[in-house]
This record gives sequence, C-alpha cells and structure tokens, in this order.
Amino acid sequence: MSEVTEFYNFALEVAHYGGNKIKEGYYSQTVSSNLQSKADPCDLVTQYDQEIEREAIKMIKDKFPSHRIIGEESDAAGEKWSLTDDPTWIIDPIDGTSNFVHRFPFVCISIGVFVKKKPVVGVVFNPILNELFTAQVGKGAYLNQKQRLPIFDPTSAVVKSPRDCMVISEFGGLRDSASLLPKSSSMYKFAVAAQEGGLGCRGIRCLGSAALDLCQLAQGSADVYWEAGPYIWDIAAALLILKESGGFAISSASPNMTLDQAHKFDFLARTVLAVRSLAPVPSDRPRSQQENIAADSHA
Ligand code: IPD
Repeated sequence: MSEVTEFYNFALEVAHYGGNKIKEGYYSQTVSSNLQSKADPCDLVTQYDQEIEREAIKMIKDKFPSHRIIGEESDAAGEKWSLTDDPTWIIDPIDGTSNFVHRFPFVCISIGVFVKKKPVVGVVFNPILNELFTAQVGKGAYLNQKQRLPIFDPTSAVVKSPRDCMVISEFGGLRDSASLLPKSSSMYKFAVAAQEGGLGCRGIRCLGSAALDLCQLAQGSADVYWEAGPYIWDIAAALLILKESGGFAISSASPNMTLDQAHKFDFLARTVLAVRSLAPVPSDRPRSQQENIAADSHA
C-alpha cells in the first residue's frame, strides 16, 4: 500500500469518527447551549468542535507520531503553527459551525493531508446528508467512494458566459462594515446585470461551509466559488477534491498560479476564486456501474 493510500485510509477513519460526533450533536437538544464565539460574535465554536478536534489529533498522533497537525480549534486556542514540508494533517472538525448550531444541513468534517506543502489527500464528510467527498492526488475525486466526480457531465452544461453561472460566495464570520462592504459589493457585481456593469450571474448561494461549497463545484452543481476570508483548514481538503475533479483555483497572493502549480498556490492567502471543471471530462473515461445507475435515474 502506498504511503498516500495509508494516509487516505486513516483520514477516512478520523472522518467517520468526526461524522458520528457531528450527527450526535446536530440531533441533540443541547447543541445551541454552551455556545462560545471567537473574535467575532458570529464566529462560533461549540464543545463538539473542540472535542472532535482533540480526539482527531490524538488519533493521528498515535498513528503517525512524527506528523504535524494544524487544526482550527488549536489555532483558536493560541497554538502557533506553520506549513512545512513535513507530512501535515489540516483539520476543520466542523466546517459550517453556524449551520451545525441551526441544524442547517451543510455541515462537515474536513481533513487534508499535505506533503511538501502540497495536498495529497482530501476528505470532506457531511454526515447529515451522508455525503463523503474524497480525493487522493492523481487518482480522481469521488462521492461516497464510488461515484467519480463530477457527477454531472460538464459537457452537458459548459459555462459559456457568466449568465450561465451558479456562484457560491460567503459573508464569513466578521460583522464589521470594513469586512462586509467589499464582500457585499463583490456579490453585487456577480449578480447585477451586464448592462449595469455587473456579470449578471444566474444565481448566488451562501451555503455556510467553504469546504462543502468547493465540493458543490467538484460535483458539478455550481460553477464558481469566491470568498475572502477562508482559512487553510476550510479549504485544504476540498481544493484537492476540486482539482481532482478537473476544477481549478487561484488565490489572491498568486493570481497567476493555478492549483496545478500547487507548490506555488498560496493556501494561506485567504482569498480564493475557484472554478469547476471547464474542460470536458475525458470522454474515454468509462462510466462506473454507479454512474450508470445515477445517470439512468436522472434521465
Ligand atoms: C467558516 C465557514 C464559512 C466561511 C468561513 C469559514 P467554520 O468555517 O466555512 O462558510 O464563510 O470563511 O471560516 O468557522 O464554520 O469552521
């Protein structure tokens, strides 16, 4: 078994542990009690975020003692970290914490593994909708380990103009006008008609989880993701899933670098523009049995 596959298999174990915990919290009566917020009142953390991250770190340290770990809640607790060449696990125990608290079903655990600063494994698990998005570098991206992504054939809906685009963006957790005005104005430009200087995109969605936003692009349900503000733990796993599904992304720090040049893509830049597969999925790729079933049931 290759090293990457070993990391992948273990990331699945951690994701299943986290997924079960998320489900337990989501359906419990106490999820909205004991809420804490971070720097901003709308940036929430619950006991579940903290407990899942603590246990995930313990699991990874027991299995791979020499690996580094970057976690959202460890960062919030003041732990210093940097992205190095060492194998590094990048964890968001609950991406979409506000959704979790409100029982809005876009909630996931996100686990990325990086080697030499490049993503090699990405696992994003939404236990509420039972959707597991995964990728290993060079091996494609999958939904529930069976259905190759994108699910929806990109040749059937090639985006020809912004008018045909479904855009996903987010307001993030900050509520000060200096943070929100540029975001609102970017969303306005995505939405407003071309004759009034905008792009006139078909729809703008805010789902509340950067990782799941990117997975919507990977499966072909949306075309563009733009956000100013996500941290590396929000996007680490999902950007590999997107890349392996044929999509790409650029960051504000290196606008000319695509994810294909991942050694130069800046995962720390915190402004990301991502686009789903624009090139057709190679027609020589045979459909799996599951894809045929899915295609038939959608025909
Ligand atoms: C947040 C969510 C949100 C995005 C923020 C993230 P969290 O993560 O992904 O959609 O707008 O940028 O920080 O706090 O729920 O893990």
